[in-house]
Amino acid sequence: MSAIETFNGKNALITGASQGLGEAIAKSFAEAGAFVFVNCAHGVDNAKRVVTEIESAGGRAEVFQCNIADEAEVNAKFSALISRCGSIDILVNNARLDPYKRTEKDTDGEWFDKTLAINLKGAYLPILAVLDAMKKKRWGRIINVSSVWAYWAATPKMIPYSVSKAGMHALTRAFAREGAPFNISVNTVAPGLIMTENISNRLTAEQLKAETATVPLGRGATPEEIAQIILDTARSGFITGETINANGGAYMGL
Ligand SMILES: NC(=O)c1ccc[n+]([C@@H]2O[C@H](COP(=O)([O-])OP(=O)(O)OC[C@H]3O[C@@H](n4cnc5c(N)ncnc54)[C@H](OP(=O)(O)O)[C@@H]3O)[C@@H](O)[C@H]2O)c1
Repeated sequence: MSAIETFNGKNALITGASQGLGEAIAKSFAEAGAFVFVNCAHGVDNAKRVVTEIESAGGRAEVFQCNIADEAEVNAKFSALISRCGSIDILVNNARLDPYKRTEKDTDGEWFDKTLAINLKGAYLPILAVLDAMKKKRWGRIINVSSVWAYWAATPKMIPYSVSKAGMHALTRAFAREGAPFNISVNTVAPGLIMTENISNRLTAEQLKAETATVPLGRGATPEEIAQIILDTARSGFITGETINANGGAYMGL
């Protein structure tokens, strides 16, 4: 394999990598040779577990605790990290506020602000924080993890989530254009249902059956399948400004 296929010598930062899809992405990039920064804001013990599992499999990683919705924290922690390691070559904006974690206390406006802050500003700020160093190296890969909810006419409960994900597509296009002269590609991967532990814990067997019945392929993706698509997207230096949809045919309906 060539250096680019293996990602040897590259630093990859995966936001929201302490569980779910982010964990699978972190493990895939580590397996492909990258040094991986496993980001989360709260679940540091989980992030440590991910790092330990990567190391046990022969990879290299460390925990990078940072609230990606906090501008001052992002600026301080990303700049310290880049000073220490030279650059972040691959950034995957995967973190999200779980749309099912809204509490009674959150007003509509508060929940909208929180969702946009983590899902959208939480992708915008990290991109800005890594871009200059990527430009200097004239190499970079940025992948924004969106969702089929970016396209669907959302149910009232899912409106903030859907809006935040649609916004990621605009981020992708804008930064793809800015990054192109510097050999930096920026793409969106928009998954449908993924069988993360969150989904398995939240849905009853009946609900899961109903949910998968709306997917023409009749199942959710494994986190590893979507991680592989993100890895493949990062491998290509010629795809930029695009959206890769991976939803089991959910567009087509049944
Ligand atoms: N699961 C699905 O079916 C599905 C479908 C389509 C698209 N997606 C997309 O795939 C991505 C991953 O989904 P998932 O289901 O794996 O998510 P998840 O299980 O809810 O995990 C979210 C991750 O984001 C982190 N996070 C939350 N707030 C953060 C903050 N302020 N700063 C840094 N990290 C933060 C969480 O860690 P801490 O809370 O510990 O900080 C956690 O690691 C998301 O972008 C989601 O929209 C998922």
